[in-house]
Amino acid sequence: MCGIVGYVGTNKSVEVLLGGLRRLEYRGYDSAGIAVIDPAGELHTRKRAGKLQVLVDDLDARAIANGSTGIGHTRWATHGGPNDQNAHPHLGDDGKLALIHNGIIENFAELKRELLESHPDTVFTSETDTEVAALIVGLEYQKTGNLQLALRNIVARLHGAFTLLVLHRDEPGVVVGARRNSPLVIGLGHGENFLGSDVAAFVEHTRRAVAIGQDQIVTITADDVVVTDFDGNAVETDEFEIAWDASAAEKGGWSSFMAKEISEEPEAIAKTLLGRIHDGVVHLEELDALDYSLADIDRIVILGCGTAAYSGMLAKYAIEKWARIPVDVEMSHEFRYRDPIIDARTLVISVSQSGETMDTLRAVQYAKEEGARTLSICNTQGATIPRESDAVVYTHAGPEVAVASTKAFVAQVAAFYLFGLHLASVRGTLSAAEIAGLAGELQALPGQLETVLEQHEAIKQLAGWMVDTRAVLFLGRHAGFPVALEGALKLKELAYIHAEGFAAGELKHGPIALIEKGQPVFVVVPSPRGKDSLHPKVVSNIQEIRARGARILAIAEQGDASVLPYADVVIPIPLASTLFEPLLAVAPLQIFAMELAAAKGLDVDQPRNLAKSVTVE
Ligand code: M6R
Repeated sequence: MCGIVGYVGTNKSVEVLLGGLRRLEYRGYDSAGIAVIDPAGELHTRKRAGKLQVLVDDLDARAIANGSTGIGHTRWATHGGPNDQNAHPHLGDDGKLALIHNGIIENFAELKRELLESHPDTVFTSETDTEVAALIVGLEYQKTGNLQLALRNIVARLHGAFTLLVLHRDEPGVVVGARRNSPLVIGLGHGENFLGSDVAAFVEHTRRAVAIGQDQIVTITADDVVVTDFDGNAVETDEFEIAWDASAAEKGGWSSFMAKEISEEPEAIAKTLLGRIHDGVVHLEELDALDYSLADIDRIVILGCGTAAYSGMLAKYAIEKWARIPVDVEMSHEFRYRDPIIDARTLVISVSQSGETMDTLRAVQYAKEEGARTLSICNTQGATIPRESDAVVYTHAGPEVAVASTKAFVAQVAAFYLFGLHLASVRGTLSAAEIAGLAGELQALPGQLETVLEQHEAIKQLAGWMVDTRAVLFLGRHAGFPVALEGALKLKELAYIHAEGFAAGELKHGPIALIEKGQPVFVVVPSPRGKDSLHPKVVSNIQEIRARGARILAIAEQGDASVLPYADVVIPIPLASTLFEPLLAVAPLQIFAMELAAAKGLDVDQPRNLAKSVTVE
């Protein structure tokens, strides 16, 4: 939530900041603003409610003086509505200091009260927690005359999660940042340096990056970067090279980032598998450095939110079947508040595209405190969750910009499946031949998925017919169940249509009462092949709801004639075994939700009320 960018370099701050904000806008799009110090040492700010384009248009109409030092912010509102006043930056020290913030300062009311007691004439121009921080850092600057010190003295008083960037008119050429539980990454340039919520903020200018650790302060100038802890002690930092190139985060010729990202799903899976399967043997070298053996783990807990959690549900089915170890899947935000039973023999696997989801981060930190082993599956280099984990298996889906997660989901499932096969090998629960066979099926998926994506136009037409639909249900069983949940989530978040995903077997225990004449129901039909196939049971479920008037939209294996008599529409997918079908069945549902939203004239990439990276609890 909220995107942050900082820059010190040559005389082009406005362009760098707006470019960075454009790439970070997925993090929040309620309002945006910048602050720039011009060559004469004057501080200029401009901030506007609405999407970034409103700010850009405003700056086009009324330019501000450019400069070599600046900060920029794109907001997802927490304290105070999305209006011009609440937009960042906020000012301190009589307008000489500007500050931007990502996160929530939980004790802001207390700080505000203290501020009013000590400075009763203080005027607040917004309802935000951020303005309080700007004002007290400003007062501290008046005492210290040093921006880094002023920020350092204040962060100790702040509770909650924050990344703060601050600049001051009297220190042109300096931006100082601080972070606790919210992300901040440095971009290293030549004669210029950058700060960003993630590497997307500056990847068009440099591929060299440094992640800032918990409770650290960074000061950038055009030629220098200094990182300390909150006590001012120098800390060591790790530089890394950004694997994404800037064009990967561009829309190209696509109508939306989401359309582009769905089209990239085969590649996202292929790149996630690349170099990790050799002659049918799965090797995850990221796990070599663990200081314990996976053979000593006796239980796994998977933590994630939203779409990421659904990938974890599929992982449970696969890991339990292949590695014969109990796996629980839990939404991160529920986990640490119920006193869960975990210990050093529990492996807690967090899954997160952004690597910044606060609920998941806090759950990982809790698991570590309780002595559990931690592994993360993540798509974003330098993010906080992998840094807090014992090891990370990166998915290589490339930057995912659309708020609705698509290619990251299939890449997460692929990474989990690799892990499951690796664990089966460590535990000796599958033979080498079985592992090689399953790894081969995994490697076949990108090609199979290409054929599913060829049905985009037909699915778009279906979505167009259903533009006035008020509710849609999604059914699946076993590995089809998480797909049903994901289909429903996509439709809710994109098309604002009431949607529910159910385990097909659960229907008769209550939800079947929702079925009335004409009710559209997507059904993920398992393959009819295999002795344990749930196909007959799902076909029976289809008959039960069809008898009550439901319109059946079936996703079924190519050539499965048994559903034809009962389905109004069949979307065929290639032949794949049970655990691999979800990776083929989910794309039609993603496309359906996207095209229905587009047909309703909605913003597919930036649905209302949402942000891509949920960095508040
Ligand atoms: O970055 P993360 O994978 O941790 O994000 C988790 C969820 O917030 C995310 O998957 C969310 O549910 C998406 N908007 C779904 O499309």
